[in-house]
Amino acid sequence: MALHKTLFILFLFLTLASASTFNVVDFGAKPNIGTDSSQAFEEAWASACRATTAVSIYVPKGRFYVKSIAFEGPCNNNDITIRIDGTLLAPSNYAVIANSGNWITFKRVDGVNVFGGVLDAQGFGLWACKNSKSSCPSGATSLEFSNSKNIMVSGLTSLNSQMFHIVINGCQNVKAQGLKISAAGNSPNTDGIHVALSSTVTILNSIIGTGDDCISIGPGTSNLWIENVACGPGHGISIGSLGREVQEDGVENVTVKSATFTNTQNGVRIKTWGKPSNGFARSVIFQDIVMVNVENPIIIDQNYCPDNKGCPGQDSGVKISDVTYRNIHGTSATQVAMKFDCSSKFPCNDITLEDVELSYKNEAAEASCSHAEGSAAGLVQPSSCL
Ligand SMILES: *[C@@H]1O[C@H](CO)[C@@H](O)[C@H](O)[C@H]1NC(C)=O
Repeated sequence: MALHKTLFILFLFLTLASASTFNVVDFGAKPNIGTDSSQAFEEAWASACRATTAVSIYVPKGRFYVKSIAFEGPCNNNDITIRIDGTLLAPSNYAVIANSGNWITFKRVDGVNVFGGVLDAQGFGLWACKNSKSSCPSGATSLEFSNSKNIMVSGLTSLNSQMFHIVINGCQNVKAQGLKISAAGNSPNTDGIHVALSSTVTILNSIIGTGDDCISIGPGTSNLWIENVACGPGHGISIGSLGREVQEDGVENVTVKSATFTNTQNGVRIKTWGKPSNGFARSVIFQDIVMVNVENPIIIDQNYCPDNKGCPGQDSGVKISDVTYRNIHGTSATQVAMKFDCSSKFPCNDITLEDVELSYKNEAAEASCSHAEGSAAGLVQPSSCL
């Protein structure tokens, strides 16, 4: 090939490879002093969203204060990368964002990749309020993706959310990996990742410790894959609560693989309200799981009825079927390590236990079944009550 042709191809390659980058500092964001940088972040987003080719937003090292901000689409391109070397801090006065539902939101976006970064919501003040009196704002979710698709979040740390850390709601094709999520074990409602009304969501290689569920899976979730997650402290990985509404989308095709639960309230749980609903949970696999001193390592609870309001004495309408527990080992912090408390109207069916071995104080733990049908294979200890 002639030299000039080679150079031309090289030039073309470099031009295409060097997508433009918007640095939030160039939009007026100021690190490490108490100034509010919200507007700079929103303006950087507006520029990125207007661009017709792939673009990046860059957040350099430093601590940037931001109030509730929304990154909204649809955008003119579907390839926006946000690279964060710094920390985003919520205002230390929790009231500033606590009534707005969310702190940082992506809405109606397609093709957004977030790399790195620390989100510190400084939720302590709101937790103290919630733990001491009853009338406190419900608090803001730290990071929400809603009605979006083709999202990747990689290497992000979320600290001390007021409410949920990360919510994926109404989304398709989301990959979250290498996340670190942390809040105090006694912080109320600080779920790590909540997924609802979404399909094809993958959560990999993450460490989650919170005061509520490490991962909670709400109605309308399908094709969810969770692998290599360490959970604790917290309430475990929970499908539910389901069946709060009479008309509700079901949960289908959920896999939890290679997870460790340490000193958590639950391990793998399916939880439904004890009242009528057309919801369901089916095709669920919990596999290759280690339990370390977990209060309820394996649990299906279909009689959830907080404060005994609106449901006592009723049966859950949520149909639970085709749930497999395979290769689950470790220790229970209570005598009953395996509990299937299903709906008497719609018994759980096609529950499979395969190589499950859970002990309590160095002895075999117990299993308890109510309206649960299925089969056991391999070594199952405590022995199956299905
Ligand atoms: C179940 O979900 C996984 C992704 O988690 C997907 O690869 C698989 O095709 C889905 N199975 C069905 C039957 O849809």
